[in-house]
Amino acid sequence: MSTASVNDRIQLIVNGQSDEETCSPSLAKGPWEFDTKVPAYGPGASMGDVIPTGSPVQGGLPEEYKVASNDELHARIRAAKDTLGDKLVILGHFYQRDEVVQHADYLGDSFQLARAAADRPEANYIVFCGVHFMAETADILSRPEQQVILPNLAAGCSMADMADIESVTACWKELTDLYGTGPDASGKVPVIPVTYMNSSAALKGFCGENGGIVCTSSNAATVLEWAFERAHRVLFFPDQHLGRNTAKAMGISVDDMPLWHGRRELGGNTADQLESAKVILWNGFCSVHKRFTVAQIEKARVDFPGVRVVVHPECPMDVVDAADESGSTDYIRKAVEGATTPTTFAIGTEINMVQRLAAQHPQHTIFCLDPVVCPCSTMYRIHPGYLAWVLERLVAGEVVNQISVPADVAEPARVALERMLAAKPV
Ligand code: 13P
Ligand code: SF4
Repeated sequence: MSTASVNDRIQLIVNGQSDEETCSPSLAKGPWEFDTKVPAYGPGASMGDVIPTGSPVQGGLPEEYKVASNDELHARIRAAKDTLGDKLVILGHFYQRDEVVQHADYLGDSFQLARAAADRPEANYIVFCGVHFMAETADILSRPEQQVILPNLAAGCSMADMADIESVTACWKELTDLYGTGPDASGKVPVIPVTYMNSSAALKGFCGENGGIVCTSSNAATVLEWAFERAHRVLFFPDQHLGRNTAKAMGISVDDMPLWHGRRELGGNTADQLESAKVILWNGFCSVHKRFTVAQIEKARVDFPGVRVVVHPECPMDVVDAADESGSTDYIRKAVEGATTPTTFAIGTEINMVQRLAAQHPQHTIFCLDPVVCPCSTMYRIHPGYLAWVLERLVAGEVVNQISVPADVAEPARVALERMLAAKPV
């Protein structure tokens, strides 16, 4: 794999200087080309997903940031950071483009970054280079006076958007009508809601109010154990794959994990299926991780005998089963950093992270299982132009693109997040 950044690789493909393939030539354009009054994910892995009409849109970016060269934007970002000093902390997710990551004070997974926000109480401004649900979580876990800023409001998450509060509330009513709500003689309730971190604050609040909990891809097994100590069943949303892969590894049969389809009576299941269910899986998925296939793994094993295949648990079950290991973004990072002899890694996660690991560890051969250059659409919406804009507005005393979770949602969401922290201190 080339050591150029993902953005540079895409530019080379579009200019005809590389014979690699990208899933969309539009990725070579500035993300502002997709800032419209109509919500859109923009080019990249989730461009085919249906975006909810109420999703935030980015109103626009002043022209000067669109026409500036990368060198100029980097210089302006550095100057604004110097001026703001300790009042500012910039957080960057592993899936962000290198051109943004180079300015981050902390780089990490979604949960580490939310904690990093809470660990910097002296910072007035938390600029979150990631996606919307991460910025919401940072707002919930940070001090009330701290302001969280998402440089591009259109940086959502198509998987998080696959479960909305109305549909989950309707599902919950059907389930509790079927099962009842009170504990039985064993003290367990019939069902507990568990939401993946990749969900709106409203859904985290729903879990807080209904005895439920949040999980991340690094603690999902511990959280499911927590839930099964208190309930006979779990309603898991929005990611069916993380739910299925985690529960299967705990010994739960896939036959006991029916899929819940919104808008169908009983989610498209019979009452008997739901009675015997252990985990009811919401029908959500990540369009980045859905691109990985068993055929890609088989090819990697033929091309590179002895290859170590490591994938994220958002991948479909057959892909996780065919891999050597699966784990969260931080697990993948540690797997590479912990390899003491030169190793070939085929990795099934977002390409910006894989590309960076390859560049940082030239002693290893590291490549993305998906040969097509196809980043997460929404992570890619954060470009240095937006970062320079929000920082220079802060220098001028103006907060733009603030993410603020209303107190009536933040309070129960914090309860669900704190249950997760108590279940497994991170
Ligand atoms: P992490 O929670 O590991 O950061 O993953 C977030 C994500 O969006 C994975 O697709
Ligand atoms: Fe959402 Fe998938 Fe992008 Fe993660 S990689 S932010 S789950 S769309």
